[in-house]
Amino acid sequence: MEKAIGNSKITLIRGSVVEMTADAIVNAANNSLLGGGGVDGAIHRAAGPKLLEECRTLHGCETGDAKITKAYNITNAKHIIHTVGPIYSGTKEDARLLASCYTRSLELAAENGCESIAFPGISTGVYGYPLKEAAQVSYNAVSTWLEAHKDKAMQVYFCCFKDAEKDAYLAAML
Ligand code: AR6
Repeated sequence: MEKAIGNSKITLIRGSVVEMTADAIVNAANNSLLGGGGVDGAIHRAAGPKLLEECRTLHGCETGDAKITKAYNITNAKHIIHTVGPIYSGTKEDARLLASCYTRSLELAAENGCESIAFPGISTGVYGYPLKEAAQVSYNAVSTWLEAHKDKAMQVYFCCFKDAEKDAYLAAML
């Protein structure tokens, strides 16, 4: 599934964000930015120890915010954008913080000259955000940002690691 917004495009992909060829790939990190499980673990393993070294200099990241590093041994990307999603609580704050992760990541990508960015599901693993809700918040946040930045040509990939994620995004993008 693909959606064009101005000169930009949102594309749904089945696969791991770690293997995506894009100017920036996004990491679903935690406040420490010092690694963890899930996609965070996979990204640190693939990028190598220099990534952790750079992450140590960033002094963590607030929930809903994002920080950018080099991609080191991940040669299919130039940058890694580390964003910290909310731990799902069932309150309105969840959607605000999750949307902010996508918006801040897009802002950082644009500021750093990226023309393509690949997202995993943020907060939809260990952090427990229900998939259908998360997919809708993600799609709305990205499409709103692209609508507001029609001067940009950004290729956005939503990388679905599991079939259930793809189904949720397909429903959100209809
Ligand atoms: N490769 C690609 N995608 C993956 C992988 C992988 N190996 N494993 C999971 N995903 P999660 P969160 C997808 O749990 O919910 C970490 O420990 C998964 O299907 O990685 O934001 C951090 O350090 C889902 O769509 O992140 C934090 O402590 C997406 O990645 C915490 O988990 C996110 O799932 C963050 O939790």
